[in-house]
Amino acid sequence: MIQAVKGTKDILPINVKTWQFLEEKFRLITHRFSYNEMRTPIFEKTEVFSRTVGDETDIVNKEMYTFIDKGGESITLRPEQTAAIARAIIQNNLLQDNNLLKVWYFGSYFRYERPQKGRLREFHQFGTECIGSNTPESDAENIILGCELIREIGINNYSLLINSLGNENDRKNYKEKLISYLKSNSLDLSEESIQRLEKNPLRVLDSKDPVDIELLKNAPNIIDTIEDSSLKHFQKVLDYLKNSNINYEINHKLVRGLDYYSDTVFEFQSNELGAQNSFGGGGRYNTLFAQLGGKNIPAIGFAMGIERLIIILESLDKCKDNSNSLDFYIVVSSSEYSNYAFKIADILRKNNYSVYFDLTNKSFKSQFKDANKLNSNYTIIIGENEVNSNSISIKNMKTSEQILIEFNKLEEFKI
Ligand code: HAM
Repeated sequence: MIQAVKGTKDILPINVKTWQFLEEKFRLITHRFSYNEMRTPIFEKTEVFSRTVGDETDIVNKEMYTFIDKGGESITLRPEQTAAIARAIIQNNLLQDNNLLKVWYFGSYFRYERPQKGRLREFHQFGTECIGSNTPESDAENIILGCELIREIGINNYSLLINSLGNENDRKNYKEKLISYLKSNSLDLSEESIQRLEKNPLRVLDSKDPVDIELLKNAPNIIDTIEDSSLKHFQKVLDYLKNSNINYEINHKLVRGLDYYSDTVFEFQSNELGAQNSFGGGGRYNTLFAQLGGKNIPAIGFAMGIERLIIILESLDKCKDNSNSLDFYIVVSSSEYSNYAFKIADILRKNNYSVYFDLTNKSFKSQFKDANKLNSNYTIIIGENEVNSNSISIKNMKTSEQILIEFNKLEEFKI
């Protein structure tokens, strides 16, 4: 038997209602904040991601699904959406007469990671990008949107972690301070952190190793290195959040796993998730457009992992009920009457009712059993009598009450 590829998951009919519920919430909340949906191809030229996400990040270094296509071009299945959105905005000149663009997206993304709870190789994200503004107001509004969405979904118990990485120069200075601190303690560092220290020192701050965590307690803080303008920006963002009753936790060790961030970065975390405790994250990215050959365009955004949101909903017993919501099951005593059944189904369906009739030549009795199994509200019974008298028997499955109506009165039948 051919199995699905490791790290991928089928979304079965029995689970799909929760996905649809989430998708409806994404549409609703982004509408309230005046964001428009945007869709880009599932694969891009590899450089879209290698130039922006960062050569030394885990994503670009180890996790991209990259292949050479038949034309000899290096192609990558998108590991994230932000860089592809920027590519599309530059290519389609979307910012020409519009100095602010607010877009949202939902789709599947690909990273060759070691699969575990909440970590897949094909996973789904919902995300937003607010492009063309460098104001603290745009940071605050974007974060408020994220919190509003989480609330609407029904998740109350989570943490919003926030930090500022300052500008490029601030980060360079901070890297030097951090490297010097870590090098003087490198004997105690984990193997992974020693490697990161060489290639991407800020990522050492993300280490989950208990000894590293202890050591990092006394490491220099990025906030002590950043310039006044970034500090003021950060303080304003925090003020706006406070003013909007958003609870946050400042965490100066929060750096995020992608290189394109500057100034505000944030993450949504939940204790229900185990090791992969972050279910969403984002931040400001003011240099990404220029890295892709565009103008300097400031922007901020975030993305949430759908599979992780669903794990949280499962733990709260808040997944959506998958029971069938069937309005009518049409039972026919013989396939001779299928034409009549098609006509009835057509009228009911045009009135937006869900209608089911047997397509597998089940016996009369089995069709009734089926109607019960599918939890149908009404059963329509079509036998010789009904067809000859141009009428329809309708049985209310809850009360067992049965009525006979004329065929041309069906249009008026309301449930
Ligand atoms: P990210 O932190 O790499 O950010 O991913 C965002 C979310 O996607 C994570 O918090 C997690 O919920 C989910 N996720 C990531 N990898 C996996 C995986 N292997 N399996 C399951 N879920 C996963 C970004 O992707 C940025 N583009 C976010 C952003 C938007 N920044 C600015 N704008």
